[in-house]
Amino acid sequence: MNRYSMRKYIIANWKMSMGKGEALDFAKALGDNLENMEHVQGVICPSFPLIGSLELPPSVALGAQNCSAFEAGAYTGEVSASLLGEMGCEYVIVGHSERRTLFGETSEDVRNKAMQVLACYMTPVVCIGESLEMYESGETKAYLKDQLEACLPDQNFILAYEPIWAIGTGRVPTLEEIEETQAFLKEVLVRHGLGETPVLYGGSVKGENAKDILALPSVDGVLVGGASLKIGSFLKIMRSVV
Ligand code: PGA
Repeated sequence: MNRYSMRKYIIANWKMSMGKGEALDFAKALGDNLENMEHVQGVICPSFPLIGSLELPPSVALGAQNCSAFEAGAYTGEVSASLLGEMGCEYVIVGHSERRTLFGETSEDVRNKAMQVLACYMTPVVCIGESLEMYESGETKAYLKDQLEACLPDQNFILAYEPIWAIGTGRVPTLEEIEETQAFLKEVLVRHGLGETPVLYGGSVKGENAKDILALPSVDGVLVGGASLKIGSFLKIMRSVV
């Protein structure tokens, strides 16, 4: 049994959407309402300034949405992986499609960030995903393989497959498509000796569809944006793991 195989991951990516008051209320409500869940690893990834203030229940760890590709030094505005580790983070999302498309991050940057996270004994959550154009022209698998191989860390990471066209749109691939793509990604990982890597799905996961997605054999968890902002829907997703 490997270190990951027992649990499913529910990772909340709050993006730039939560203020301080809402975030503290959310954390309090989570502590008051969430039962202990040994088979689920929740992770909350708030904006950087909130990282030191959230008190989370035992089934929920702290994560960050990004970190610097550099170790330390004169990089104004950047946040190092080591500081995130000191502040209590255990996971760091790297290479989210918004970072790649809006802020020009390359797969090389993403790999460097993942290596910084690993060097600080945290787990990188490496995101990949195809555009609508690629999906519609049937290039998804070839594109994802190249993208994954270009940013592949060499150990202990989590992969999150997030079709760009499913993020924040309410449009979700069919369950068969999710399973086929995730199983393909697992094969690619096996070929690199990384077969134990958990593979998460992300993109318009909601309380209503989480149970079916999480029941797929190749889905080891979900990365959730919009539906992680409300305590009710986040709890529903946490409780969708059977
Ligand atoms: P969404 O975002 O759940 O709002 O689609 C997912 C993500 O960007 O990680």
